[in-house]
Amino acid sequence: MAEIRIRNTNEIISGDDNVRKFLSRYEVIYEHWDVGKLPAQLQDNFTLSDEQKSEILNTFEAEIQDLVARRGYRTWDVITLSEATPNIEELLAKFEQIHTHTEDEIRVIISGAGTFIIKGDDETGYFDVNLVPGDLISVPENTAHFFTLTDERKVVAVRLFVEENGWIAHPYDDPTFQKS
Ligand SMILES: [Fe+2]
Repeated sequence: MAEIRIRNTNEIISGDDNVRKFLSRYEVIYEHWDVGKLPAQLQDNFTLSDEQKSEILNTFEAEIQDLVARRGYRTWDVITLSEATPNIEELLAKFEQIHTHTEDEIRVIISGAGTFIIKGDDETGYFDVNLVPGDLISVPENTAHFFTLTDERKVVAVRLFVEENGWIAHPYDDPTFQKS
């Protein structure tokens, strides 16, 4: 289950209902997939072949088609990031810059963990959403955010897109951002 930490106050929000309620205030969608449906060799595996990535997408075909029907996604893929990823340092440095997109950014964690740092309202400021396998999050378009890994530095996630170029990052310069 995802857990939220509000950076200004260090307040922790946990529990499915509380997390969902908090995120809905910022129109962030939070749902679950049952990663237990995956064959064992596709769970906690961070060096997936293209065939194995397709197998993951096939396993969640119904969930993907449900999202397509509700939200109009047109393409999807599986990404893996770990110490085995060439240029992981460079990628992470690039990720850790606040930005916005012209479409929502939706991710489903399949293995490992990841954190979205999202800008709430002026009073709440930035909050971290710590995601574990099965967590689905969608950050709305034009909402300032960035994604990073936990200390374990490994994640497998499904991404869905509406437009080929909708996910292009537009830098968002924010002097109020608190580093951690
Ligand atoms: Fe993004």
